[in-house]
Amino acid sequence: MPAARLTLRRPDDWHVHLRDGAMLKAVLPFTAQQFARAIVMPNLKPPVATAADAEAYRARILEALPAGARFTPLMTCYLTDATDADDLARGAASGVFTAAKLYPANATTNSAFGVTDIRRIDGVLARMAEIGLPLLIHGEVTDPDVDIFDREAVFLDQVLSPLLDRHPTLRVVLEHVTTKEAVDFVRAHAASGRIGATITAHHLFINRSHIFAGGIRPHLYCLPIAKREVHRRALVEAATSGEGPFFLGTDTAPHAVTAKETACGCAGCFTAPSAIELYAQAFEEAGALGKLEAFASLNGPRFYRLPLNEERIVLERVPSKVADVVLLAEGDGILPFKSGETLDWRLIRAE
Ligand code: DOR
Ligand code: ZN
Repeated sequence: MPAARLTLRRPDDWHVHLRDGAMLKAVLPFTAQQFARAIVMPNLKPPVATAADAEAYRARILEALPAGARFTPLMTCYLTDATDADDLARGAASGVFTAAKLYPANATTNSAFGVTDIRRIDGVLARMAEIGLPLLIHGEVTDPDVDIFDREAVFLDQVLSPLLDRHPTLRVVLEHVTTKEAVDFVRAHAASGRIGATITAHHLFINRSHIFAGGIRPHLYCLPIAKREVHRRALVEAATSGEGPFFLGTDTAPHAVTAKETACGCAGCFTAPSAIELYAQAFEEAGALGKLEAFASLNGPRFYRLPLNEERIVLERVPSKVADVVLLAEGDGILPFKSGETLDWRLIRAE
């Protein structure tokens, strides 16, 4: 019997870290092969904080694409206390900015330039609401007294709720949701049509115990950190529900092995090499393969008000091994999530 096949409208990845330089060169082919478009995170050092920065970064990404790739990077602005609303609006009007990203200062990797108090950028947010530019949010409070496993839930109450009240027409994506509270929050606001949420592949697989199974596993450390099993299940349920606000965003976040396997390791899971296969596996395990296309290819463009992709991809149900270490030019490598493990699906072509 021939292997089962699954044909999907070509998906997009609504949350990607592509980095720069040698790392960009090493990781971009994986994303560009699977996805037609990706929302590119701006947390470089220094951050992508102006329209000119984003234009230059976009040019470097296009330059790094493999020959023949069909891939469009969608750029974002890294909001700081000093963001110039006029520059942001110009960047949006010229098409270089698809969205702007809020990193609460010091919430995660390269967020030191992030916003120290959200009220400081209320003027910028008002302008974004006016011009229809979505706000993408890393939704964790940064108060060290708040337990790391509670930082997302506390953010919803303390920051996001008041923010939505202050800016009733601003469209918001709550990025990489990790809790049942976030899923419930998004659903409670779904009728407004102005809230979306990305769900990563790794958060569909791991709960917080996996990070410590048999020893500390630095490659499973990411932010927001994985929570209890009840939350993982809520994420699987939301992703596979087909509901409009939930869409694919891998948050693939490559770091060199030497930066992960060290006394103070970086946060991030590198899922790009097998991203769509990982999602297919999670959806099949939930008995919901039929909802994968909505999550991966329909809900995101609808939220962003962009056209659906016309191309298709084909997955085949054959065992496929997740890539081993991806080499970096410097002689260091990046270890993919589930490296060496076998998944049930394989991407065979984009057409
Ligand atoms: O795990 C993460 N890694 N979470 C983030 O928010 C940032 C990302 C990165 O840039 O490495
Ligand atoms: Zn991210």
